[in-house]
Amino acid sequence: MSLPNLLIHPGHPDFLDLPWDESVSDWEHDRIVEMPAGVHRHPVVFVAYDEGVYVVKELPHHFAQNEYSVLTELENRTYRSAPPVGLVHRGWVDDSEEHSAAVITQYVTHTFPYRRLIAGIGFGKRRARLLDSVAGLLVELHLAGCYWGDCSLSNLLYRYDGGAIEAVMIDAETSYLRETLSDGQRLEDLEVMKMNLAGEMADIAAEKGVGIDQADLRLGEDVEATYLALWEELNADLIITRDEGFRIRERIARLNDLGFSVDDVELDPTDEGNLVQMRVHVGNRKFNSDRLRQLTGLAAKENQARLLLGDLSYFLAKNGYASDAHRAVGVFAWLSGVYEPIVSQIRTVWPGDDPVQGYCDFLHHRMRLATERGFDVENDEALSSWMESGFPGFD
Ligand SMILES: Nc1ncnc2c1ncn2[C@@H]1O[C@H](COP(=O)(O)OP(=O)(O)O)[C@@H](O)[C@H]1O
Ligand SMILES: [Mg+2]
Repeated sequence: MSLPNLLIHPGHPDFLDLPWDESVSDWEHDRIVEMPAGVHRHPVVFVAYDEGVYVVKELPHHFAQNEYSVLTELENRTYRSAPPVGLVHRGWVDDSEEHSAAVITQYVTHTFPYRRLIAGIGFGKRRARLLDSVAGLLVELHLAGCYWGDCSLSNLLYRYDGGAIEAVMIDAETSYLRETLSDGQRLEDLEVMKMNLAGEMADIAAEKGVGIDQADLRLGEDVEATYLALWEELNADLIITRDEGFRIRERIARLNDLGFSVDDVELDPTDEGNLVQMRVHVGNRKFNSDRLRQLTGLAAKENQARLLLGDLSYFLAKNGYASDAHRAVGVFAWLSGVYEPIVSQIRTVWPGDDPVQGYCDFLHHRMRLATERGFDVENDEALSSWMESGFPGFD
């Protein structure tokens, strides 16, 4: 049996038990599992190990190398792309052949391809949230200097993140990274996205036997409009007077609310020192999840973290732990007395597979009850009510 060159990130299986001498489309192997997938060009298989499920995609060596190196570098810049695991090179096959190489990525858990959703039940009332998350992902990739070059419904995965939806990028075959992208590069990436989305919506309409007039062809334009508004919010220069320092804090708070951390604020005097031009340098959309981790050690997605931090702040304020001196004790009291006991109950009864999302759904239900009644509802009562009502989520 011929063995390819394998470059594997540490902490994963060695994948040596897979039948590499055959093309993956011919594989018949115990490790192969069925997972939901979008429409794709290259042969793709999903393989299960104790460490998790992995995706093996076969493609010509040059493209595989590009995808692997972009995903590897991107992992240092953002956390919203498929985690790369390995690069496989079959040295005995001509490099231009489809099966000359393969990229292994970690299957992104709790996700589902956009393409499957739209071709199935459709967006329904989640349309705006689903599109916002695509625009947010593109902004984040562009801020990280990544030109995607193939944003499409099949290359976008989504997962629930608190009350929002988080989009994840896979398929970096045509992508490249720069220190910063030019406006032209960003706009070109948006053009590709619009063209892909319109084409896919037309395909889906045809598959469903629906006339082209009824196809939701404006999807791409709507994503673009949200993208442009968000980009402006993040990048606009603001002119303030010297005594309006509070507007700097306001702007940082607004960006933090959107989840972006602010790396630096640049202030340049203009108009002979009477006015100040303010420019912010934003980082990843991880402000809340970083803060939650610092305070509590808990790992959560960005919007989940925002909701958990809200619950924690409320607990601290209500129980007299809000001052700096008492906060550490209060955080411990929340973790051991509130969060952990509720999450362990959720784990045993909740049908979903991400207990942090279960906790967020419970928080949402508690808030709904309190709004209906006009006063606070205790956790025990809210939890029983959430369970008895069949674990309602955000819709
Ligand atoms: N890391 C991943 N996690 C979850 N699903 C994935 C992952 N990588 C690929 N997939 C699924 O497999 C499909 C094909 O992968 P992709 O990289 O887009 O191949 P192609 O380049 O042939 O389009 C995707 O539409 C997606 O549904
Ligand atoms: Mg693809």
